[in-house]
Amino acid sequence: MKENIILIGFMGVGKGTTARAYGKKYNCFNIDTDDLIESKENCKIKEIFKEEGEAHFRNLEQECANWIESSVNNTLISCGGGFYNVNNLKKLGKIVLLDASYEWIYNRLSTAENAKSKLKKRPLFAEPKKAKKLYKERNKIYKTIADLIVDVEKNDIKSVLKEINKSLYI
Ligand code: S3P
Repeated sequence: MKENIILIGFMGVGKGTTARAYGKKYNCFNIDTDDLIESKENCKIKEIFKEEGEAHFRNLEQECANWIESSVNNTLISCGGGFYNVNNLKKLGKIVLLDASYEWIYNRLSTAENAKSKLKKRPLFAEPKKAKKLYKERNKIYKTIADLIVDVEKNDIKSVLKEINKSLYI
Protein backbone atom coordinates (compact mmCIF):
# COMPACT_ATOMS: atom_id res chain seq x y z
CA MET A 1 0.00 0.00 0.00
CA LYS A 2 1.38 3.41 -1.02
CA GLU A 3 2.00 5.91 1.77
CA ASN A 4 2.11 8.93 -0.54
CA ILE A 5 -0.05 12.01 -0.21
CA ILE A 6 -1.36 13.22 -3.54
CA LEU A 7 -2.20 16.93 -3.48
CA ILE A 8 -4.74 17.88 -6.10
CA GLY A 9 -6.62 21.09 -6.81
CA PHE A 10 -7.09 23.87 -9.31
CA MET A 11 -4.22 25.82 -10.88
CA GLY A 12 -2.88 28.44 -8.52
CA VAL A 13 -4.55 27.14 -5.35
CA GLY A 14 -1.09 26.77 -3.79
CA LYS A 15 -0.26 23.06 -4.13
CA GLY A 16 3.46 23.64 -4.66
CA THR A 17 3.80 26.20 -1.86
CA THR A 18 1.82 23.99 0.52
CA ALA A 19 3.83 20.89 -0.41
CA ARG A 20 7.12 22.65 0.30
CA ALA A 21 5.86 23.90 3.66
CA TYR A 22 4.58 20.42 4.53
CA GLY A 23 7.91 18.86 3.57
CA LYS A 24 9.75 21.26 5.84
CA LYS A 25 7.42 20.78 8.81
CA TYR A 26 7.13 17.00 8.62
CA ASN A 27 10.56 16.30 7.17
CA CYS A 28 8.98 14.60 4.20
CA PHE A 29 10.17 14.43 0.58
CA ASN A 30 8.00 16.36 -1.82
CA ILE A 31 7.91 16.30 -5.59
CA ASP A 32 5.77 18.07 -8.17
CA THR A 33 4.41 16.41 -11.31
CA ASP A 34 4.92 19.52 -13.46
CA ASP A 35 8.55 19.74 -12.29
CA LEU A 36 9.12 16.05 -13.03
CA ILE A 37 7.70 16.43 -16.53
CA GLU A 38 9.72 19.59 -17.21
CA SER A 39 12.94 17.88 -16.09
CA LYS A 40 12.32 14.72 -18.07
CA GLU A 41 11.40 16.62 -21.24
CA ASN A 42 13.91 19.39 -20.57
CA CYS A 43 11.16 21.77 -21.61
CA LYS A 44 8.79 24.17 -19.84
CA ILE A 45 5.11 23.20 -19.58
CA LYS A 46 4.00 26.20 -21.59
CA GLU A 47 6.42 25.20 -24.39
CA ILE A 48 5.13 21.60 -24.33
CA PHE A 49 1.57 22.94 -24.73
CA LYS A 50 2.69 25.25 -27.55
CA GLU A 51 4.92 22.82 -29.46
CA GLU A 52 3.20 19.46 -28.90
CA GLY A 53 -0.32 20.29 -27.75
CA GLU A 54 -2.33 19.53 -24.62
CA ALA A 55 -3.01 15.87 -25.54
CA HIS A 56 0.72 15.17 -25.56
CA PHE A 57 1.08 16.84 -22.16
CA ARG A 58 -1.68 14.60 -20.79
CA ASN A 59 0.24 11.54 -22.03
CA LEU A 60 3.30 12.80 -20.20
CA GLU A 61 1.20 13.12 -17.04
CA GLN A 62 0.14 9.49 -17.42
CA GLU A 63 3.78 8.41 -17.87
CA CYS A 64 4.63 10.36 -14.74
CA ALA A 65 1.80 8.66 -12.81
CA ASN A 66 3.07 5.24 -13.94
CA TRP A 67 6.54 6.08 -12.67
CA ILE A 68 5.13 7.25 -9.32
CA GLU A 69 3.13 4.03 -9.02
CA SER A 70 6.18 1.86 -9.63
CA SER A 71 8.86 3.87 -7.83
CA VAL A 72 7.68 6.45 -5.29
CA ASN A 73 6.65 5.97 -1.66
CA ASN A 74 6.43 8.06 1.55
CA THR A 75 6.37 11.25 -0.47
CA LEU A 76 4.08 14.24 -0.80
CA ILE A 77 3.27 14.73 -4.45
CA SER A 78 1.82 18.00 -5.68
CA CYS A 79 0.03 17.58 -8.98
CA GLY A 80 -0.81 19.78 -11.94
CA GLY A 81 -4.48 20.79 -11.98
CA GLY A 82 -5.38 18.22 -14.67
CA PHE A 83 -3.37 15.33 -13.26
CA TYR A 84 -6.46 13.90 -11.53
CA ASN A 85 -7.39 12.41 -14.92
CA VAL A 86 -4.62 9.78 -14.96
CA ASN A 87 -6.06 6.28 -14.90
CA ASN A 88 -4.18 5.07 -11.79
CA LEU A 89 -4.63 8.08 -9.49
CA LYS A 90 -6.23 6.06 -6.69
CA LYS A 91 -3.27 3.68 -6.64
CA LEU A 92 -0.74 6.45 -6.00
CA GLY A 93 -1.68 7.33 -2.41
CA LYS A 94 -4.20 9.26 -0.32
CA ILE A 95 -5.80 12.02 -2.35
CA VAL A 96 -6.04 15.40 -0.68
CA LEU A 97 -7.87 18.25 -2.37
CA LEU A 98 -6.83 21.83 -1.65
CA ASP A 99 -10.07 23.69 -2.06
CA ALA A 100 -10.84 27.41 -2.50
CA SER A 101 -13.21 29.58 -4.51
CA TYR A 102 -12.23 30.68 -8.02
CA GLU A 103 -12.19 34.32 -6.88
CA TRP A 104 -9.72 33.54 -4.07
CA ILE A 105 -7.43 31.64 -6.45
CA TYR A 106 -7.53 34.37 -9.09
CA ASN A 107 -6.80 36.98 -6.47
CA ARG A 108 -3.92 34.90 -5.05
CA LEU A 109 -2.33 34.60 -8.50
CA SER A 110 -2.89 38.12 -9.69
CA THR A 111 -1.65 39.82 -6.53
CA ALA A 112 1.45 37.62 -6.09
CA GLU A 113 4.81 39.39 -6.29
CA ASN A 114 5.61 37.49 -9.49
CA ALA A 115 2.02 37.58 -10.77
CA LYS A 116 2.97 37.94 -14.42
CA SER A 117 5.12 34.84 -14.49
CA LYS A 118 2.65 32.85 -12.37
CA LEU A 119 -0.11 33.55 -14.90
CA LYS A 120 2.14 33.19 -17.94
CA LYS A 121 3.43 29.75 -17.06
CA ARG A 122 -0.15 28.42 -16.92
CA PRO A 123 -1.48 28.27 -20.50
CA LEU A 124 -4.99 27.33 -19.35
CA PHE A 125 -5.19 30.56 -17.32
CA ALA A 126 -4.59 32.74 -20.40
CA GLU A 127 -8.32 33.51 -20.66
CA PRO A 128 -9.91 34.05 -17.24
CA LYS A 129 -13.45 33.33 -18.54
CA LYS A 130 -12.38 29.92 -19.83
CA ALA A 131 -10.41 29.29 -16.65
CA LYS A 132 -13.50 29.97 -14.55
CA LYS A 133 -15.55 27.55 -16.65
CA LEU A 134 -12.84 24.92 -16.23
CA TYR A 135 -12.82 25.57 -12.47
CA LYS A 136 -16.57 24.95 -12.28
CA GLU A 137 -16.32 21.69 -14.22
CA ARG A 138 -13.27 20.43 -12.36
CA ASN A 139 -14.19 21.38 -8.82
CA LYS A 140 -17.13 18.99 -8.75
CA ILE A 141 -14.94 16.13 -9.95
CA TYR A 142 -12.10 16.94 -7.56
CA LYS A 143 -14.55 16.68 -4.67
CA THR A 144 -15.79 13.27 -5.70
CA ILE A 145 -12.32 11.73 -5.94
CA ALA A 146 -10.70 13.29 -2.86
CA ASP A 147 -10.17 11.20 0.28
CA LEU A 148 -9.85 14.46 2.22
CA ILE A 149 -10.81 18.06 1.38
CA VAL A 150 -8.84 20.90 2.96
CA ASP A 151 -10.21 24.44 2.70
CA VAL A 152 -7.21 26.70 2.11
CA GLU A 153 -9.34 29.83 1.90
CA LYS A 154 -10.65 29.65 5.46
CA ASN A 155 -7.65 28.03 7.18
CA ASP A 156 -4.19 29.42 7.74
CA ILE A 157 -1.17 27.47 6.54
CA LYS A 158 -0.54 25.94 9.97
CA SER A 159 -3.99 24.33 10.12
CA VAL A 160 -3.81 23.35 6.45
CA LEU A 161 -0.61 21.36 7.12
CA LYS A 162 -2.16 19.68 10.15
CA GLU A 163 -5.25 18.73 8.14
CA ILE A 164 -3.15 17.29 5.33
CA ASN A 165 -1.26 15.17 7.82
CA LYS A 166 -4.55 13.63 8.97
CA SER A 167 -4.86 11.98 5.55
CA LEU A 168 -2.19 9.49 6.64
CA TYR A 169 -4.59 8.11 9.25
CA ILE A 170 -7.75 7.74 7.18
C1 S3P B 1 -2.89 22.40 -15.67
C2 S3P B 1 -2.32 22.88 -14.51
C3 S3P B 1 -0.90 23.25 -14.41
C4 S3P B 1 -0.07 22.49 -15.45
C5 S3P B 1 -0.64 22.68 -16.82
C6 S3P B 1 -2.09 22.18 -16.91
C7 S3P B 1 -4.33 22.05 -15.68
O1 S3P B 1 -0.38 22.98 -13.11
O2 S3P B 1 -0.02 21.12 -15.13
O3 S3P B 1 -0.55 24.03 -17.14
O4 S3P B 1 -4.79 21.33 -16.57
O5 S3P B 1 -5.04 22.48 -14.73
P1 S3P B 1 -0.78 23.86 -11.78
O6 S3P B 1 -2.06 23.28 -11.27
O7 S3P B 1 0.36 23.63 -10.88
O8 S3P B 1 -0.91 25.25 -12.23
